[in-house]
Amino acid sequence: MKKIAIMTAGGDCAGLNSVIKAVVLSAADKKIKVLGIQDGYIGFVEKKYIKLTKSDVYDIEKMGGTIIGSSNKQCPFHYPVAGKNNEYEDRVEESIKALKKQGVEGLIVVGGDGSLDSARVINDAGMPTIGIPKTIDNDMSASMPTIGFETAVENSVQAIRNLKATAYSHRRVFVVEIMGRTSGYLTLYSGFASGADIILLPELDYDLKVVCNKVKQIMKSGKRYVIIAASEACKEKGKEETISKILKDSFEQKRYGGIAEKLASQIEEITGYESRAMVLGHLQRGGEPIMSDIILGARLGNYALNLLLEGESGYIVGTKETALVKVKFPKTRKPRILELDKDDIAITAKDMGISFGV
Ligand code: F6P
Repeated sequence: MKKIAIMTAGGDCAGLNSVIKAVVLSAADKKIKVLGIQDGYIGFVEKKYIKLTKSDVYDIEKMGGTIIGSSNKQCPFHYPVAGKNNEYEDRVEESIKALKKQGVEGLIVVGGDGSLDSARVINDAGMPTIGIPKTIDNDMSASMPTIGFETAVENSVQAIRNLKATAYSHRRVFVVEIMGRTSGYLTLYSGFASGADIILLPELDYDLKVVCNKVKQIMKSGKRYVIIAASEACKEKGKEETISKILKDSFEQKRYGGIAEKLASQIEEITGYESRAMVLGHLQRGGEPIMSDIILGARLGNYALNLLLEGESGYIVGTKETALVKVKFPKTRKPRILELDKDDIAITAKDMGISFGV
């Protein structure tokens, strides 16, 4: 193999640049050229490529985001037809041909489950491909943790610590809205590590009465504030999720948002305690990666490259305990489900008296 390409697709996260750096340096060491595909599947289809050399990647591991860009709505086999509304076409074969014309013999896709599903299609269509899982949601079964998760937890913990100071001063209840879509990992870990009093997860519908009683109990006990870590997709028993927008042209059609505002106003009305909402939003995803994401990104990048060079493809790489592992691209998505009765952090939180609102 003389030339490979790399793409980052889906929502960005911390640690992507570490993957890129590892792939570029490791390839350079073996005299292999690397082409960066810009902006995820947009660049794949629209043929937006950049050469990546050693001098492009010095020190990038410390930077958040991805130097080659990303996009999280486009799918190469269901790609919008230019100038037409609601018309889509399969652009995979033509895009592979264009890459091969550039001399590319293998592809590394760093992405979430939707992006890696497209990577499977590309591999099956004739471009040897390896997928690397990344998501702040930590819901991909191929790797525990996924690239970006631990930095997002750290960012959320720092933010909640800051909130605690102002919550304490003003005797307030804060509902903190945390990303993760329908997976509660980010909320559970962030809430637990920041010492939240109540953690509300998509995996367990909460009872508003229980939440309000817990708030009253905490405030009456002499503690001056309450922190509620609420996943963006958590919901009250018997009610619907809070959605800010439906995105018709996206892999993930629901854009969550608004639960913190809604819950804070309900809590204030029922308990009488001043309650505020704080949406952490994309601040969780941005910022510099912590050490563990830098290391994880580099290990998986190097592993993916070596597999391609050994003639292996069609795999998603990840980690299991301390080992690097590979699994065949699944035909259907296999998300990792947070099982609250088995997850050690959830059990510890419950034993420590943290409420799940039930
Ligand atoms: O899947 C990653 C994620 O950050 C989710 O946690 C969040 O709901 C979503 O992406 C936000 O996506 P966007 O940046 O497109 O609004």
